[in-house]
Amino acid sequence: MCIAIEDIALGTSGYCISLETLAMHNSIDRNKYLVGIGQKNFSITPPDEDIITLAYKAASQIITKNNAKNIKFLFFATESSFDNSKSAGTYLHELLQLPEDCRIIELKQACYGGTAALLLAKSFLETTGDKNAKCLVITSDIAKYELMSNAEPTQGASSVAMLLSKENDNAIALLEHFGGTVTKNSNDFSKPNYMRYPFVNGKLSIVIYLSFLKQSIKKFLSEFNLGIEDFRAICYHTPFPKMAYKANDMVQKLYPELSSGRYISDIKEQVYYNSEIGNSYTASLYLSLLSLLEQDCNDFTNKRIGMFSYGSGSTCELFTLIISESYKQKLRKEFNLKLIQNRKFAEYEEYKFFHDFTYTNDTEIPVSSDSVIRLKSIKNHVRNYELL
Ligand code: CAA
Repeated sequence: MCIAIEDIALGTSGYCISLETLAMHNSIDRNKYLVGIGQKNFSITPPDEDIITLAYKAASQIITKNNAKNIKFLFFATESSFDNSKSAGTYLHELLQLPEDCRIIELKQACYGGTAALLLAKSFLETTGDKNAKCLVITSDIAKYELMSNAEPTQGASSVAMLLSKENDNAIALLEHFGGTVTKNSNDFSKPNYMRYPFVNGKLSIVIYLSFLKQSIKKFLSEFNLGIEDFRAICYHTPFPKMAYKANDMVQKLYPELSSGRYISDIKEQVYYNSEIGNSYTASLYLSLLSLLEQDCNDFTNKRIGMFSYGSGSTCELFTLIISESYKQKLRKEFNLKLIQNRKFAEYEEYKFFHDFTYTNDTEIPVSSDSVIRLKSIKNHVRNYELL
């Protein structure tokens, strides 16, 4: 019996900024952002959107009255947490009306958190005696860096929610192998509690990412006795699109036999959503998977897709998915494209206002969002959400 990704959905904010606007304001050659980083726009969150509203927008698409009662574990992966104790999942549990016997946990290991969540959900489903049990895995993040910093063009915000079960018929993909793990204490990226923005050694982070990828693929292939030609495509953690190109170029150089044509050498489609939405840490790899399955016109039915997950600090893992026959009917391609296209483009001053907004206790949050859900207020240290 395999564990299946029964459904997968995307949520992002209602606003974005174009990299052209940012480049103009920062007096940077636009091609550095558009070509050098590979980013076109990125989603930005107004004060009344946060990791919970993004997660709700994604998860509410896949939760129905019928399946909610079987959700026995909610895994919430994020590195944009606003509370060191109360899990973000508690808010989602109430908003999605999940059952009382649904466990919740928040996970953190930089961008790897979502992959750890999938692995734990798989183990839970393999061991529970409840054959109808389902797990909800949520990845939700807002990437924010200091204004005018080198990392500023690599911001973004989104959530990808996945419903996992033992239900192999009518699935989007089956989870196959997890392995090729590499872990080493490194200081490429962190978010100390006393700092408003991340501490980033960008160049070092790229070097470690690529070195981990190289080791990970070799280990994975040997652990599972597979050849590189057994992959139809590989999705990479995508903090910015150019990173995925760097990763893909390295893999093609390591395995020149990939030029046989069975493997995708041009990854333009699989980073399309990332190039529009930006970095969303834990969600980025899954955004790339959605982009591949929805934007690439190849048929991936019964094909093996490699998923390279990297979390600064650092740990990485490679895992594989076998894409199911029903995947095309289950995806929400048109909806996701509209979600991206319908975002409002912010001017620089509005972007700066959103970026610099500081949350305090006992605040009514200004209204910006007009769809699905918004953060209404913070009163007595309780966040209050309004369904629209
Ligand atoms: N036209 C075209 N290209 C141009 C250009 C121009 N006018 N000017 C510069 N470029 C190119 C550069 O040649 C370079 O390309 P290559 O990487 O192919 O050499 C690219 O644009 C970027 O330029 P710089 O190297 O000068 O970049 P930078 O110092 O301004 O910063 C960055 C880039 C390090 C990615 C920075 O944005 C950053 O620190 N981002 C956050 C950290 C990050 O995302 N790290 C990724 C790995 S870690 C990870 O994956 C975890 C995570 O999610 C954060």
